[in-house]
Amino acid sequence: MASTRADLRRDMVNADREEEAVKNDSIMSYETVKYFNAESYEFGRYRKAIRSFQAAEKKVTWGMNDMNIYQALVFTFGILTMLMIAAVEVTLNLRSIGDFVVMISYLAQLQGPLQFFGSFYRTVQQAMISGERLLELFKIKPSVVDQPGVVALRECRGHIRWTNVQFSYLQERTALHDISFDCLPGTTTAFVGESGGGKSTIFRLMFRYYNCANGKIEIDGHDVKDLTIDSVRRHIGVVPQDTLLFNETIMYNLKYANPSVSDEEVYEACRAASIHDRIVSFANGYNTKVGDRGARLSGGEKQRVAIARTILKNPKIIMLDEATSALDSETEQHIQAKLIRGGSLGQDRTLLIIAHRLSTITHADQIIVLHAGSVIEKGTHTELLALRGRYASMWESQSQAEQAAVAARTATAHAQKLLRMAHLQNPTHQARASETNSEGYRSLTSSTLLGAAGPSTPLQESIHNSDTSSDDDN
Ligand SMILES: Nc1ncnc2c1ncn2[C@@H]1O[C@H](COP(=O)(O)OP(=O)(O)OP(=O)(O)O)[C@@H](O)[C@H]1O
Ligand SMILES: [Mg+2]
Repeated sequence: MASTRADLRRDMVNADREEEAVKNDSIMSYETVKYFNAESYEFGRYRKAIRSFQAAEKKVTWGMNDMNIYQALVFTFGILTMLMIAAVEVTLNLRSIGDFVVMISYLAQLQGPLQFFGSFYRTVQQAMISGERLLELFKIKPSVVDQPGVVALRECRGHIRWTNVQFSYLQERTALHDISFDCLPGTTTAFVGESGGGKSTIFRLMFRYYNCANGKIEIDGHDVKDLTIDSVRRHIGVVPQDTLLFNETIMYNLKYANPSVSDEEVYEACRAASIHDRIVSFANGYNTKVGDRGARLSGGEKQRVAIARTILKNPKIIMLDEATSALDSETEQHIQAKLIRGGSLGQDRTLLIIAHRLSTITHADQIIVLHAGSVIEKGTHTELLALRGRYASMWESQSQAEQAAVAARTATAHAQKLLRMAHLQNPTHQARASETNSEGYRSLTSSTLLGAAGPSTPLQESIHNSDTSSDDDN
């Protein structure tokens, strides 16, 4: 009976965990739920989880009641039998009345400890079942741990070298094949290529989330496997693809990187990340609560807070994984320039950038083009264009898209002008004409403007000059 009750309680604990998981999942992804009008579906999912918990709880409660009833019955019948036997023996003068009274008092004293033992056993059993999952988690061994004899990387110049690195998440599929590159201190290296090509994987290996299967990753000439994980991570700042913030104030989130920094240093980092003026414009300034996971900030604001936070960490190596994708290219390049300057030792930082918008990485010292986990091209922007390979065709197609947007914008502007002139001749329509603002055609052009052979062409510049969209800046 005890083992059946243990199984029932285990089912109830699992159902409780499932209910919590469904609840958290629905609440965290509330925007997705709204986008797909899936409220009733989520209600149904949660209702189902609650019902299965209630069913499990019912079984446990009934089980406990059954057990209490059986326990009480056994005890009562046991006492009754003993009393009857003792009464018969007293009647037959085999025992005295004194013996009968002693027996009754012994039985009364035995009842309390027996019941206590029963409830104590139940409590221990419940605690063990509740802790089973925790014990399972404790048994999981991290895949990347410090090997015996590894040393800490005390100072870092920021020299990164990868030699024939191979890595797979799953045995059947290799994520990175034979990757080699060298990033000198104070240089910028950009990784470009198709989605799923392995760009973020390179960053994950660099940050030691995984160990490479073959090859070597070195920082300042030391194999990262011979260095403590903690010391390597101290010298690397990461701004990930999706930034998550704590549901606290902006100041709390910024100082998370380095609690000892002064407010003035925080402001300085925010100026470098082009977000200071925006934060100051909020009603509560730096004390503004950012909401769950930073939900009350826009994508670009969140990205810039994450960049400012990384500046405060002051690492020698900074890795940006599409960290400025929500910003216009001018702000993006301005931030990159600020990031590279002034590491902890006064030298420039080494910057690794993943970007899809090629116009923002044309200035990089080297551009590495990844395709299906392999490096297919490597060089500067000009060298890669001259190669007329994949990078050149990516640049070409992005240029064409941008130029098409520019042409559409010009044509729309021209049409608007003609429309306004027509309405001037017919003033009754003037009010309607003014309602058609310029947003329509402005939105046709993204902030990134590519030239066919270089980062800036006269056409772009003229559009840049006419485009007044700008972000807060120091
Ligand atoms: N944790 C994981 N387990 C198994 N496979 C993974 C895991 N993370 C990534 N992959 C696979 O590894 C490959 C490379 O992924 P990665 O995230 O590096 O791509 P990416 O180049 O950064 O793409 P994107 O530009 O879309 O961010 C993909 O095919 C992906 O499906
Ligand atoms: Mg990625």
